[in-house]
Amino acid sequence: MKFRRLGKSDLEVSVIGYGGWEIGGVGWKVGAEEESIEAVRSAFESGVNFFDTAPVYGFGRSEEVVADALSDVRKDVIIATKVGLIWDDAKRVKRCLRKESVLREIDDSLRRLKTDHVDLYQIHWPDPETPLEETAEALQRILEQGKARYIGVSNFDIGQMEEISEYIPIVSLQISYSMLNRYIEREIFDYVRKHDIGVIPYSPLERGLLTGKITRDYVIGDDDARKYDRNFMDRERFQRNIERVEKLKEVSARLGISLSQLAISWLLHHPEIRTVIVGSANPEHVKQNISAAEIELDPDVFAEINDILSDEELFENLYPTRPA
Ligand SMILES: NC(=O)c1ccc[n+]([C@@H]2O[C@H](COP(=O)([O-])OP(=O)(O)OC[C@H]3O[C@@H](n4cnc5c(N)ncnc54)[C@H](OP(=O)(O)O)[C@@H]3O)[C@@H](O)[C@H]2O)c1
Repeated sequence: MKFRRLGKSDLEVSVIGYGGWEIGGVGWKVGAEEESIEAVRSAFESGVNFFDTAPVYGFGRSEEVVADALSDVRKDVIIATKVGLIWDDAKRVKRCLRKESVLREIDDSLRRLKTDHVDLYQIHWPDPETPLEETAEALQRILEQGKARYIGVSNFDIGQMEEISEYIPIVSLQISYSMLNRYIEREIFDYVRKHDIGVIPYSPLERGLLTGKITRDYVIGDDDARKYDRNFMDRERFQRNIERVEKLKEVSARLGISLSQLAISWLLHHPEIRTVIVGSANPEHVKQNISAAEIELDPDVFAEINDILSDEELFENLYPTRPA
């Protein structure tokens, strides 16, 4: 395994991280809880030290599975969770970054994670109803209490990162980025390089599209996490993506690696990327993905891939963080 430093922190994170959404079980087809625990554990045993989760993933279940899989090796792992998406009794989710809510959420997460601190505490989504100054006050208290070691943000644009940095230092940006979603290359890369903020790309396999397992006739069910995703819901765009995937598969076959390994190593080719959090509840997939850490793409292959992925639509912002 290789490691990179996460922004201005002393966290040396494995270049392949573990994404904990799937093991929450809501929105994804996953096996029994024991299999999810095994998936997390096999990531650890293969050298992964960075584990990303969130309270909302399975309404607490993902954090609990991470704890069950890792509590005996807690000091050897970096646990990252999030704050700011809360739910009611009917499991309707909303954004909330009010001070009292943030202070309550950290205690709930620590209880579920069976730990006294998290290494990285990330704002999950901006909350237009709450001034960032108020949220930062709560996060500052959490740092002072030792309940979190570092603060990161997720789904923030440049203006929002500038604003929160006036109140509290941030070490990372978690944001969607994959071969089929290149928006952040336009301006965000320059900003994070300048401010030494580590990028953690989410949906690195574009929710399965970059594994080859999603075919042209894929049907999105009501309980499918992909139902909010333009790369799937816009059916013409989806078909164009399938065509791109076919071309990428030819490249990966020629190199003797899987498509998902190609997709992960392409992300790691960018120095701004510090850890790629691949989501999987399947121990075999986890192991296969981790071997991508050892793959280095030749400049010619990188250029060939970029030619396949040059269409302007791949640089559109698929997940705007502010209301239109
Ligand atoms: N901050 C945010 O707002 C945000 C949003 C979305 C996601 N995230 C984080 O990012 C992580 C990853 O993103 P994601 O969940 O959207 O999707 P992803 O990692 O792009 O793709 C996950 C999908 O790929 C499949 N998969 C993984 N490896 C595979 C392999 N080798 N062969 C075949 N299928 C494979 C998984 O199924 P199996 O389980 O069967 O392997 C799952 O269906 C999440 O777990 C979460 O931690 C954060």
